[in-house]
Amino acid sequence: MHGYGTRRSDSGGDRSMARLSTAAWPFLAAVAAALLCSVDAVIVEGLQVGFYNQTCPSAEEAVRDVVTSEIGLDRTIAAGIIRIFFHDCFVTGCDASILLDETPSGDVPEKESSANGFTLHGLRTLDVAKSTVESMCPRTVSCADILAFAARDAAVAAGIPFYEVAAGRMDGLRSNMDDLPGNMPTPSHQVPRMSELFVKRGLSQEDLVVLSGAHSIGGAHCFMFSNRIYGFSQGADIDPALEPAFAEKLRKVCPPRKDGDDPEQSPKVSFDGRTSEKLDNVYYSELLASRGLMTSDDALIKDPETKTTVDLFAGDNAVWQEKFAAAMQKLGAVDVLVGEGKGQIRKQCRLVNKPSKQSKPTSTRQSMPALRPKRKKPRLGLGNFIPGFHGFF
Ligand code: HEM
Repeated sequence: MHGYGTRRSDSGGDRSMARLSTAAWPFLAAVAAALLCSVDAVIVEGLQVGFYNQTCPSAEEAVRDVVTSEIGLDRTIAAGIIRIFFHDCFVTGCDASILLDETPSGDVPEKESSANGFTLHGLRTLDVAKSTVESMCPRTVSCADILAFAARDAAVAAGIPFYEVAAGRMDGLRSNMDDLPGNMPTPSHQVPRMSELFVKRGLSQEDLVVLSGAHSIGGAHCFMFSNRIYGFSQGADIDPALEPAFAEKLRKVCPPRKDGDDPEQSPKVSFDGRTSEKLDNVYYSELLASRGLMTSDDALIKDPETKTTVDLFAGDNAVWQEKFAAAMQKLGAVDVLVGEGKGQIRKQCRLVNKPSKQSKPTSTRQSMPALRPKRKKPRLGLGNFIPGFHGFF
């Protein structure tokens, strides 16, 4: 399920090909091309709109009420929840593995990765949503579905027209911060690497551009882009791709980093300084005006293919919003656990269910090994950043 597409090379292939009739070559070439481009099917089918209509008809409404009221108190939560959803789906699929505080295996969970850690925002809202739904319909609605509903509700609260969320995801039993390197894009990535990671997940290069538009809300801590405003290269202290006035503004907010700085104290800067609470296409116009915050944002206008898509979205908010909703639906189907014998419905999103002495394993209550002692947590600091973040700070 979680295996990645294999790019196969066959060094012995040339000799055997030579022995075959040339008539077979077009067919073999097509097969070879299919193998080279193959990725495992990670967009899983089987989710349904209205999945809880019979078992918990008010579930979606309850999640929406919690999410909208929390966002009413703190607008920044919308961005946080959308990001949590993305980070969950990109690592072992949309299985709420990002919400686990501890794991049965003792692995250090995804949440503790420095790509997550203190930068995750909105976890408490998800706890409230889960406990509200749990009090209405115990052990019925998965945390993975609650997160997918909540991400939709957050997007709608930030201006995206309503879209349906198909449900029926089960919650995963494992979570390991070591799964992030090599799967999560980092702020230093260029388009080819990001596209590769998206394709690995069954998403397209267009989905990369569409979903990066989530950076129309929320922001990034200074250390995520400080490489662009201090010591950029031997010849230029500031990335010449940045609009000079914007770079100066960033330098005022983000002082140069010193050894021993506490990353949690790092200021946070909005991706889109013009409409930072609205999910709209201004993010794309800002990119075109050389005001993209991180290297990975700016990369979208450096690459000629993605630049064409950026141009399109910058000129048409309605098209982008529609595509964003569709891409969020697609993201929500990545590597999901559906059907008999897959995962469980957690009672609390932060913990896998404890095995009950009496209960036999079932499809919804899979028996769990006893909790093993947790591996030592890494200290969250810049030095512990996942590979790919290194070298930037
Ligand atoms: C594809 C490459 C991407 C990279 C390299 C990337 C990286 C980042 C980084 C480093 C931050 C700043 C975190 C912080 O400092 O607190 C961030 C924030 C954010 N990201 Fe991404 N991201 C990517 C794609 C996405 C996608 C596809 C989505 C959603 C579908 C998304 C949603 C968000 C949101 C909403 C925020 C703001 C969070 C907040 O303010 O709490 N990102 N991203």
